Amino acid sequence: MKSGAAERSSARTAPSAVCVPRLQDPVALVPRYSLTESRVAIAGHPIHAMLVAFPVALGCGTFGADLLFLWTGDLFWPRAAVWAAGGAFVFGILAGIAGTMELLLVPGIRMRAASWTHFIIAMTLLSALGLNWGFRLHIGTAAAVLPFGILMSGLVVAMTAFTGWHGGKLVFEYQLGSSTHSRAP
Ligand code: HEM
Repeated sequence: MKSGAAERSSARTAPSAVCVPRLQDPVALVPRYSLTESRVAIAGHPIHAMLVAFPVALGCGTFGADLLFLWTGDLFWPRAAVWAAGGAFVFGILAGIAGTMELLLVPGIRMRAASWTHFIIAMTLLSALGLNWGFRLHIGTAAAVLPFGILMSGLVVAMTAFTGWHGGKLVFEYQLGSSTHSRAP
């Protein structure tokens, strides 16, 4: 006869003996799920990845120019900010077009929920970039900076960081867009 402790222990271990089928993501079973290589690329280098550096740098540059205007009062900085905000928006749209083509043309990218999450975050960022530029053009370079211009460009920096981090996750975690033919020696 088993002792109470031995019975309790076998009752605890019993379920592991039952064969439970592992859950499988049905989308991952589609053969084209593994096709993730970029199609909007120059010699295998995705154009989207090349373009995103511009909205990132110019969006942050707008905030930097606003801070320098606050600090120095020099009217050069709000003029620099309006050009930086415009450049961030225009290059953001170009990056968005390349990214959207990638999203629609590459089956393995299109099938992953994370790609659509990135699309939504990026569209929100593009709206903020457009607002930051349009507001300055409408109100006037220096008058737009305080308080709304600088608040908007601060928000743009935070949203850019989030979008860029998420884009990096697509590339470095899910390997989206990267080449499937290794040229390593
Ligand atoms: C609006 C639509 C957008 C879509 C559909 C999109 C889609 C994608 C896709 C599919 C990738 C994976 C790499 C590739 O296939 O090229 C990616 C990467 C990335 N995205 Fe976007 N994107 C969009 C906009 C943006 C914007 C506005 C930014 C700016 C911050 C951005 C930042 C990034 C970054 C930093 C990466 C990683 C690039 C790398 O390190 O190689 N994306 N995006």
